[in-house]
Amino acid sequence: MGCMGFYDDEENVEAYVQMAEGFDGRELVDVLKKHLPPGSSVLELGMGPGKDLALLAEAYDATGSDSSEVFLRRYRRDHPDADLLLLDAVTLATERRFDAIYSNKVLHHLSVDELRTSLRLQAARLKGNGLVLHSFWYGEGTEESHGLRFTYYTDASLRAVAGAEFEWVACVRYTEMEEGDSLYLLLRRSSNAGSSPVR
Ligand SMILES: C[S@@+](CC[C@H](N)C(=O)[O-])C[C@H]1O[C@@H](n2cnc3c(N)ncnc32)[C@H](O)[C@@H]1O
Repeated sequence: MGCMGFYDDEENVEAYVQMAEGFDGRELVDVLKKHLPPGSSVLELGMGPGKDLALLAEAYDATGSDSSEVFLRRYRRDHPDADLLLLDAVTLATERRFDAIYSNKVLHHLSVDELRTSLRLQAARLKGNGLVLHSFWYGEGTEESHGLRFTYYTDASLRAVAGAEFEWVACVRYTEMEEGDSLYLLLRRSSNAGSSPVR
């Protein structure tokens, strides 16, 4: 095993599950539904407790993933048939391809450079003109708390990270806990993104 992260600890996971009680990504999933036809394949990164995955699975052929086995084990207990991958958003070590890649409050744990890498790898794991939809906390700068990194983004700072593999579709500010505390980014893979292997 490599070094233990915050979410590899059962107690931290249980504390997160309690804290996130009453929150889900329904609004975000509804945004995806406006752009992605039912039945499409969707990979969720950093599924955590899996509430969004269950919502995605209502409309899509949904695959869940997380870098923490604790969350995967937990979800599999109640959903033995779920399609789940142990996957780090930075390395995206899977050969599979999807019509869309989704995450809700996950990629802010990456450094800005890691986010750039992740988006480049995501483009390579999308079929055709596939979509990515990711949510972030709105703001500027990076903080660290309990060994977890929190990087905040604005429309402008996300523009500086999204590479030429993608066309910009939308970046919209919304409210999760406090007015305007969040934003989501929706990108479409460019036709000229190429199909050469990206590592
Ligand atoms: C704040 S929680 C959000 C969980 C879930 N998406 C939700 O909305 O409740 C962050 C999640 O991202 C996962 N995570 C953190 N870093 C990751 C990485 N590099 N790759 C994949 N998942 C990661 C954590 O294990 C945790 O499940």
